[in-house]
Amino acid sequence: MDLFSNTEHRIKQLRKALNEHNYKYYVLNKPSISDFEYDQLMQELINLESAHPEYADPNSPSLRIGDDRTREFEQVVHKYPVLSLSNTYSKEEIIEFENRIKKTGLSNYEYVCELKYDGASISLTYENGKLLQAVTRGDGVSGDNIIANVKTIKSIPLELTGEDYPLLFEIRGEIFIPHAGFEQMNREREETGEVPFANPRNAASGTLKIQNSSLVAKRKLDCFLYYLLGQNLPSDSHYENLKKAKEWGFKISEHVKKCITLDDVFKFIDYWEDSRKTLPYDIDGIVIKIDSYEQQNSLGFTAKSPRWAIAFKYKAEQAVTRLLSIDYQVGRTGAITPVANLEPVILAGTTVKRASLHNADQIILLDVRINDIVYIEKGGEIIPKVVGVEKSKRDAGSKTVKYIEYCPECGTKLVRKEGEAKHYCPNEDGCPPQIKGKIEHFVSRRAMDIGLAEATISQLYESGLVKNIADLYSLTKDQLINLERFADKSAENLIASINDSKDVPFDRVLYALGIRYAGETVAKKIATHFGSLYKLAEANFNDLIDVEEIGDKIAESIIYYFNNEKNITIIKRLKEAGLQLNIKKESTERLSDILEGKSIIISGVFRKYSRDEIKKLIEKNGGKNVSSISARTDFLIAGEKTGPSKLEKAQKLNIKIISEDEFLDMINV
Ligand code: IVH
Repeated sequence: MDLFSNTEHRIKQLRKALNEHNYKYYVLNKPSISDFEYDQLMQELINLESAHPEYADPNSPSLRIGDDRTREFEQVVHKYPVLSLSNTYSKEEIIEFENRIKKTGLSNYEYVCELKYDGASISLTYENGKLLQAVTRGDGVSGDNIIANVKTIKSIPLELTGEDYPLLFEIRGEIFIPHAGFEQMNREREETGEVPFANPRNAASGTLKIQNSSLVAKRKLDCFLYYLLGQNLPSDSHYENLKKAKEWGFKISEHVKKCITLDDVFKFIDYWEDSRKTLPYDIDGIVIKIDSYEQQNSLGFTAKSPRWAIAFKYKAEQAVTRLLSIDYQVGRTGAITPVANLEPVILAGTTVKRASLHNADQIILLDVRINDIVYIEKGGEIIPKVVGVEKSKRDAGSKTVKYIEYCPECGTKLVRKEGEAKHYCPNEDGCPPQIKGKIEHFVSRRAMDIGLAEATISQLYESGLVKNIADLYSLTKDQLINLERFADKSAENLIASINDSKDVPFDRVLYALGIRYAGETVAKKIATHFGSLYKLAEANFNDLIDVEEIGDKIAESIIYYFNNEKNITIIKRLKEAGLQLNIKKESTERLSDILEGKSIIISGVFRKYSRDEIKKLIEKNGGKNVSSISARTDFLIAGEKTGPSKLEKAQKLNIKIISEDEFLDMINV
C-alpha cells in the first residue's frame, strides 16, 4: 500500500470510529472510550485532514466542532409542509378526537403515544444516507437551512449506519437542551453579564439562530427524532419506522408506546404527568398518533394540523399563596434579585416558601404588593416564580412596593445602567456576597478547579483568612487546622489543590479573574491574542476591539478592571504565587518575522486552511489579524465568497488584496 492510500484509509477509519463513538456517547449514553482518547482520535483526524485537503468530506465528524464563518441562512421550501398539532388539555377532547376518527369509518387502528419534547422542531433530509439539509419550521412552508449548526449536535448522525434506509427521506424531530446544559449555559450567561434564557425551549431556539456554529457547538443541544417522511419508507407502521430509524443511528426516545385503546393512552398520559419530572429534559405534554401511514393518509389534514394526531398538554403547575415580604439577593456581579417570601405552599410535590420576582420591572408589571394573594408557577426553571396576583382579594389600603435603593448587604447606593433590567451594587471590592461570589467563581471547576465548597469559602472569608482570591495562595495548613471542620487530611488536600491550580493554563486564569463579560470563550480569545496578562493590561480600547468577538462592552469592562489598583495588587500577588499569567510557549511559537508590523484582515472561506488556522499563521509569522478594515490595514486575504463591500472598501483604501495561495507563498507554507 502506498502512503496516500494509507492516509486515506486511516482518515476513513478515524471517521468511522468517531462516528461510532459519537453514537455510543450521545445516543446510547454508553461511551466505550475516555474523553481523552476521543480527543486524541479527533485531533489525529483534524491533523490528517488539514494536511490532506484532497480527502475533505463535508460530513466528517471533525466538522462538528463548528466553523467560525458567519453566514446568512439559506431559505428552503419544505417538501412536505410542517404542520402543527392540535392541542388539548382534557381527556374528553381525546375521546372526541377518537370519535371523529371512528366517524370516518376507520377501524382496527392503533395508537402510538410519545413524549412531546419542548424545544425547536427540525426537518432533516438524508440522501444516500448522508445528511443533506436541516431546515427549521419557519412558517411551515419554508424555513432556514441551519445545517452548519445542526452538524454540531452530536446525536444527529451525519451518515447513517445499515443499508436499508430509503435513498431520499426526511425525518422530523425536536432539538432541545437538557436541564444540565441549560443550567450551565445560563450560569455562563450570568457570569458574563448576559440575560439568562427564560427556559430551555427559548435557549434551544435562540441557539439555533446563532450565525456562528462554533458558538452553537459549545451549547449542549440534543435531538429526538419523531417522524419519517418520504417514498419507500421501510414500513406502513410509524412505530416500526421509528425502530428502523434507531437502527440507522437516530436518537429515538425509549418512551414510545403502542396503545390499542384509549384506556392505554390515558394510562400513558397519567404516568408521564408525574414521571416527566424525573426526565433530564422538558416535555410539555404527550403526542398521540395513529400508527398506520395508510390510515394517516386516509384521515388527512385540516388546514393547520393532521387529523391523525393530537397533543395532550400538561398544565404548568400553579399554586396560590400569600406574599409575606420581599428579600433582595446580591449576586457575584452585584446584580440584585428580588425574592418573594411566601406563606408555605405545596407546588409540584415540594413545599415552596420563596419565589423569584426577577427585577424591579417585573414587580411593577405584576403590580404585586405585600400581603397579596399570588399565583406561583414552576416553569423550566428550578426556582418557582410569581406569575400573577389575585387583585380581587387585595387589602384595601395596600401600597405599591418601593424598590430598594441601597444594597441590603453593604449599604452602598444601587445603580441601574441604561438598558439593563437589574439593579447593581457597585461596591465590588467591599460587598461580602460579591467578594465570596468572586472567590467561588475563581475556584470553580472550569476556572482554577480548587476543591472548595461554598460553605468553606464563607468560613474562610468570615475567619478573615481569605478576603480575596490572592489570599488563597498564602493559606497554610496550620491556619486551616485551627478552623472548625478542618482536619489534618482536609487541610492538606486543600493546600495541595491550591498548589495544583498553579499549573492551570493562562486562559483559564484569565477567566477565573471574573472580569465582567469575559466568559470562557472571550478569555480564550484574548489569551491567545495578547499572550500574557501584562500585554492585556497595557492594551487600549482600540487594541481590544481589534480582537475578534470583542465588542465595546467587553473592552470597556477589561479596561475598567485593570484601572482598579486593587486588582493590580491582586495580580502581582498571583504572579508571586506562581500562577500562569502567560500563554504556554508552543501556541504562540514564532515561525518567522515575515509579517512583522503588518495588519492583516481575512475574509471569506478558504480552501486549504480554516479561518482560525489562517489567523494563527498570521500571528506565528509576526503579523496581526485585525477584524475591521481601515487605512492602517496592510493586506486583505480574500477567500471564496468574500463580501463585495469588503473588497470595494479595500480597493478604495488601496489595500493590497491577496489570495489564500499568495498568502501561503508569502510565508513559505
Ligand atoms: S409529530 C404532523 N411528535 O410539537 C405532526 N411533534 O405542534 C408532526 N413535537 O413543534 C408533529 N414532540 O416539533 C410530533 N413526539 C412528537 C413531538 C412533536 C414535540 C413538537 C413539534 C412541533 C409541535 C407540534
